[in-house]
Amino acid sequence: MANPSPRNWIYFLSTLAGGSIQSAQNPPRIDRYRFEAMTQVRGERVADLTPGQELVRLNYAAPTQVAGAILCGSTQHLQYANGAQRDHLAAVSAPEFPASEDTVAVLIPIRKSAAWWNLAHDQRLAYFNASAHGEGHTAIGERYARRIYRQLLHSRYLFKLPYDFVTYFEFRTEHTNDFKALLANLRDETLNPEWAYVEMEQEIWLRKSA
Ligand code: HEM
Repeated sequence: MANPSPRNWIYFLSTLAGGSIQSAQNPPRIDRYRFEAMTQVRGERVADLTPGQELVRLNYAAPTQVAGAILCGSTQHLQYANGAQRDHLAAVSAPEFPASEDTVAVLIPIRKSAAWWNLAHDQRLAYFNASAHGEGHTAIGERYARRIYRQLLHSRYLFKLPYDFVTYFEFRTEHTNDFKALLANLRDETLNPEWAYVEMEQEIWLRKSA
């Protein structure tokens, strides 16, 4: 039997909290970013940053107490991709990009409404596939997967937080307009009615610095 995907607990902090990292039993993988811009798309702001501010991302292989995180979430098993979609996306999706002045990273915390969470699983699943609901999230995303690295972090049941997910993306600067087109398509409720359930969304644009 194939090994399950490793679980990761990921924290974004505005400064490197050296004490808590050094005392951790499982040292994290550390990535560094420079904050560039923010766009409040819907709802309230859940993370505050100032231009030029340094950000670190701590990636732990086990649950860890980290004080002062701006955003956090953990990777999880898939809930809506079927086997064929999972294997296809795994085959075509861009891998992580190296830290470089040419690597854009975007963090988008998202909260969905109570109406979404009240839907049964089959009703939520229908929004990810082509159906009477429209083209659907998975088919829209598939068109961009080759150029954009993505990671979905779940936050809803991690702590009591004002967001349900932290979505994380990387791509080369030249693909910025592709990423913006992807966002526009996902937010177009005729193509993707799932987005009617998104009540908070904040774009945080970063540079993955070396
Ligand atoms: C890069 C192309 C993308 C692809 C191929 C893609 C694909 C997917 C797939 C297959 C799932 C279901 C995961 C599961 O089975 O549990 C998913 C979930 C999700 N995606 Fe995307 N996606 C893309 C881009 C985006 C973007 C740009 C956003 C944010 C603006 C986003 C936000 C989310 C969220 C919040 C979920 C979880 C939804 C829920 O569980 O209710 N995705 N995505």
